[in-house]
Amino acid sequence: MIQDAIYDRGVIARYRPYLPVASSVQAVSLNEGSTPLVYSPKLSSKVGRGARVFIKYEGLNPTCSFKDRGMTVAITKAVEAGAAAVICASTGNTSAAAAAYAARAGIPCVVLLPKGKIATGKLLQAYAYGARVIAVNGNFDDALRLVRESAGDGLAIVNSVNPHRIEGQKTAAFEIIETLGDAPDLHILPLGNAGNITAYWKGYTEYAQLGRARRLPKMLGIQAAGAAPVYFGRVIEKPDTCATAIRIGNPASWDGAAAALRESSGAVEIVADDEILAAQAWLAREEGIFAEPASAASVAGLMKCLEGNRCAACPFGKILDEAVIVLTITGHGLKDPDIAGRFVSDLISIEPSLTELRKHLD
Ligand code: F0G
Repeated sequence: MIQDAIYDRGVIARYRPYLPVASSVQAVSLNEGSTPLVYSPKLSSKVGRGARVFIKYEGLNPTCSFKDRGMTVAITKAVEAGAAAVICASTGNTSAAAAAYAARAGIPCVVLLPKGKIATGKLLQAYAYGARVIAVNGNFDDALRLVRESAGDGLAIVNSVNPHRIEGQKTAAFEIIETLGDAPDLHILPLGNAGNITAYWKGYTEYAQLGRARRLPKMLGIQAAGAAPVYFGRVIEKPDTCATAIRIGNPASWDGAAAALRESSGAVEIVADDEILAAQAWLAREEGIFAEPASAASVAGLMKCLEGNRCAACPFGKILDEAVIVLTITGHGLKDPDIAGRFVSDLISIEPSLTELRKHLD
C-alpha cells in the first residue's frame, strides 16, 4: 500500500498551513526543498572563534536552484486561478524553474532572457522543459519591465514580483530553523533581484513569531561589484559581472531587501568577479561543493569579511564567539559550464595502457 505522503513531499505538502494554498488545491510539485544543510569544517576553522558554518545547498533542488521553492507555489496558484499560460523574465534560473513547473502543470511557459547573458545549462533547461524562449536585446531589468507590461494579456507573471514566489522561498528559512533547532546568528546569501533575502527574512520572522526560533539572524547580502545597486544605493544602468544570475541593476524587491537589512541589523557587501571565481574554485576543491558563480558570491563575501576589509556596517565584526553562520548556495555549478570550463584546462590524455597511466600517477 503506497502512502499518500510518497506522492508529494514538496514544500506545499510540508508547509501548507504557512502558505496561501488551500487544502483542497492540488500542488504542482517536483518534491522541491528538503535540501541538505551541510556542515563546512574548513569554513568554520577559517572563521575561528568556535564558529560553525553551514551551507544550505539549494543547488540540489529539482531544477538545481532555490527557485523551485517559490515556483511550486506560483504555478500552483496560477493553475488555481485558471491562467492560460505563465511568463517570466530571468537571468536563467527562474526560467528553468518556471519551464519545469509549467510542464508539470501542462500549461505553456514564455521566458524572456537577456540576450547572450544566460548560462548554457539554464538555457538548455528552458528548452528541454518546452518553454518558448525569447531573447531580449537588453539586460534583465529590460526583460522584467517588458514582462510587467505584458500583464493583462492573459499571462500569469511568475517572477518574484508575484508574492507567491516569496511565500514558497521562505520555507528555506523554516528548514534551517528545524535542522539547527534555532535560527543562525548570521545568514549570508547572494543578492540580485532581492526576492530571496526578502523571503528568508519573512521565513525567519514568521517562525520566530510562532516560537519556533528564539533569535533572528543578521542578514548579509552579497552583490557583485559591477552589479551592486543596493550597495551603492542607486540604479546601475549597465550591470556587469561574470555571475550572470545576479547581473541586475534595479532589483524588483529592493524595498524587501532594505527592510531585511534594516530590521536584522544586517548589511550588504560587494565582491569582485575574481573573488567570486576564486571562491567557486575553493568551495569545490576544499569542501566538495560545486556552486555557480552567483552562489559562490556568498563564500567570497565571507572570505572578504574574514580578511578584515569589510564595510563599516558589516555585522560580521559584531557576531559573538561560537556563532552559527549559514550560507546559501543558490544554484548548482553545472548550471554554468562555460565559467567552469577553466577547471579542465589541464586535461591529460593517454593511450589505454597501464605503463602510460603510471607515468601520471606520482
Ligand atoms: N543566486 C542565483 C543562482 C540566482 O539565480 C539568483 C537570481 C540569485 C542568486 C539572486 O536571488 O534575485 O532573489 O536576489 N536569479 C533570478 C533569475 C534573477 O532570473 O533566475 P534574488
